[in-house]
Amino acid sequence: MSKKLYIETLGCAMNVRDSEHIIAELNEKDDYTLTENSGEADLILINTCSVRERPVQKLFSELGMFNKVKKEGAKIGVCGCTASHLGQDIIKRAPYVNFVLGARNVSKIGEVLHKDKSVEVDIDYDESDFAFKDFRSSPYKAYINISIGCDKQCTYCIVPKTRGEEISIPADLIQKEAQKAVQGGAKELFLLGQNVNNYGRRFSGEHEKVNFTELLRRISKIEGLRRIRFTSPHPFHMDDEFLEEFANNPKICKSMHMPLQSGSSKVLKEMKRGYTKEWFLNRVEKLKSMVPEVSLSTDIIVAFPGESDEDFYDTLDVMRQVEFEQIFSFKYSPRPLTEAAEFTNTIDEEIGSERLSTLQELQNELLDKNVFKLLGKVYEVYFEELRADGYVSGRSDNNHLVKVKGSEELLGKFADVKITEVGRVSLVGEIVK
Ligand code: SAH
Ligand code: SF4
Ligand code: F3S
Repeated sequence: MSKKLYIETLGCAMNVRDSEHIIAELNEKDDYTLTENSGEADLILINTCSVRERPVQKLFSELGMFNKVKKEGAKIGVCGCTASHLGQDIIKRAPYVNFVLGARNVSKIGEVLHKDKSVEVDIDYDESDFAFKDFRSSPYKAYINISIGCDKQCTYCIVPKTRGEEISIPADLIQKEAQKAVQGGAKELFLLGQNVNNYGRRFSGEHEKVNFTELLRRISKIEGLRRIRFTSPHPFHMDDEFLEEFANNPKICKSMHMPLQSGSSKVLKEMKRGYTKEWFLNRVEKLKSMVPEVSLSTDIIVAFPGESDEDFYDTLDVMRQVEFEQIFSFKYSPRPLTEAAEFTNTIDEEIGSERLSTLQELQNELLDKNVFKLLGKVYEVYFEELRADGYVSGRSDNNHLVKVKGSEELLGKFADVKITEVGRVSLVGEIVK
């Protein structure tokens, strides 16, 4: 009988893909199959995130819980970004943990599994051309890593310390993987990296120099592929060539994640983001003039050290000008190994919380104002999920979550849907074609 693997994945899409790689490797080499019940698992893995403080505390309480419920002889492993930065300390604090595997060492899962108390967290390890075995959690869309690590040094961010320097995965490997995913039935590809539009910055070894725009062109030639999405692009690298490819390539979905972080040029400088408020707004304007239907999402941090009321109003001002469809907003959280952790001009907790709720209220106001404009529109929707309430849901090209009454026959299909009801999070519609 095959062994059982229980895996919990926190954090970003890159972690989701890393978990898929781990599942595939363990299945191929050690005959593990997935279970949703940690109590029956032979191996329990947590694929961790350490971008903000809270999830780190949660990790240790969860580990304690898993240690109580696990069956006799079962192993526990900690993977991902917190594994990278805490390393050996995890085993010191939770001695029942069997191994620690960093976010940049995923390909070593088969080794650490059989070496009790091993810790593999080298952030210089290069697995950019490792051919992982294949596993995909969705038959409809495929995540594909196009780069590992990050070369930016945003002063608040721990990621470069957990995932190491940026290396692009060779274009021919990406193309092969994309081709295989499409042959396997995926009609949508989701290209992943911390800095996708900086693709081609550095390859390990001799590889053809290809930039992101060229990579998009090549991938979009794959027959049977309908949609390409990607995350995260960096506003600094949104040059005209890239925006034009985005606008003119019909397979690229017309939704763009544009992580703003702050609307104040002063704060952006302190964050070392490499762009100003004006540059960001200029890129949005250019994008909207080329693709009027484009929907934009963003990440914003409030209460970064030194953020004055005026700086915060600049952020609100950008929100009013851009009218994002979706905002992921966070209160600044000081992280070890980062430059900003040393800054002394920190902002009071309460001010941070107030700013966060002001921002979220403004976002709700903007959504409520804009969402009615979607009534009666017709979107092509790719159906991916069966809902418990008799609905099937999917995404429009510009990333609206759309639900229609229906059953599993719709899954994996495209249909034109006319929007009949609107809400902040999802839309309801009827199939017209
Ligand atoms: N590479 C992506 C971001 C990855 S981290 C980019 O540059 O946009 C995801 C998000 O977490 C960031 O966009 C940021 O908004 C948030 N984040 C990162 N570090 C943080 C910190 N120290 N405190 C609060 N939020 C943080
Ligand atoms: Fe972090 Fe900045 Fe790199 Fe994004 S670009 S992962 S925020 S250092
Ligand atoms: Fe978290 Fe690591 Fe992603 S810190 S956001 S899992 S890159």
